[in-house]
Amino acid sequence: MGTRTLEGKIALVTGGSRGIGRAIARRLGRDGATVAVAYARDEAAANEVVEGIRKDDGRAFALHAELGRHGDAASLWGAFDAYADDYTPGGAVDIIVNNAGIGRSADLASLTEDGFDEVFAVNVRAPFFIVQQGLKRLCDGGRIINISSGAARLALPEIMAYGATKGALDTFTLNLAKELGPRGITANSVAPGIIDTDVNASWLRGNPDAEAHAASLAALGRVGQPEDVADIVAFLASDDARWVTGRVIDATGGSGL
Ligand SMILES: NC(=O)c1ccc[n+]([C@@H]2O[C@H](COP(=O)([O-])OP(=O)(O)OC[C@H]3O[C@@H](n4cnc5c(N)ncnc54)[C@H](OP(=O)(O)O)[C@@H]3O)[C@@H](O)[C@H]2O)c1
Repeated sequence: MGTRTLEGKIALVTGGSRGIGRAIARRLGRDGATVAVAYARDEAAANEVVEGIRKDDGRAFALHAELGRHGDAASLWGAFDAYADDYTPGGAVDIIVNNAGIGRSADLASLTEDGFDEVFAVNVRAPFFIVQQGLKRLCDGGRIINISSGAARLALPEIMAYGATKGALDTFTLNLAKELGPRGITANSVAPGIIDTDVNASWLRGNPDAEAHAASLAALGRVGQPEDVADIVAFLASDDARWVTGRVIDATGGSGL
């Protein structure tokens, strides 16, 4: 059991059904928050996360919200409101975690305009409008936590557009901190390095050489786990982090030092 420091708080975690988002949802649930576990396609995975949180005596519900299309933020908040009677009185929210993201990208020569639009629509436009349209619901003293990437500060030409989305997200974070500070709302980015999730499964899992190489990139000498990121998010969501805002918190285990 966690320490339930978030008792009475309501958290939205996009992409909460798998990978880093699942670990964040579970951790915030253990800390006492009611968690809206948003997913795009894998309802079963989202329901599993919800069940896991409930088994830990937490409160959670699965929320279908496919991001990356015009109107996605409005649909998300509309779906969120459907749970108002049971979970989210007045549609209020205390913690928004913009975690859903896609890594689809290509190098400069091969990236198409559609590919560019898609990665920016999911990784940048969706968080932007989720926050914009969530502002009237977000309680004073609330938290916005954007899941960025170490790729925002490294030159990785093979995933150039992906890195650019995370750079844009970090700039969004910075501006939110300034804009919302007077309401006691903090906004921070968390920037993971290589984390063992489905996104990396095809080249990482069951490949000792790839794992050893990935581990060697981090000063701490191992591949990151979703919980490594979730624990940082839990800190930022807590009252202990009330004086941290507008920052990108590195969650790479010391990669590229
Ligand atoms: N893994 C890494 O090494 C790494 C490193 C740095 C940063 N990050 C960032 O961390 C975040 C999570 O990554 P992850 O590795 O945990 O990814 P993941 O394992 O692929 O999980 C992605 C999650 O996002 C949801 N999602 C994907 N596309 C969506 C869409 N269009 N609309 C709504 N939800 C969508 C998925 O839901 P469904 O299953 O329902 O589709 C799933 O819950 C991303 O922002 C990523 O850029 C990851």
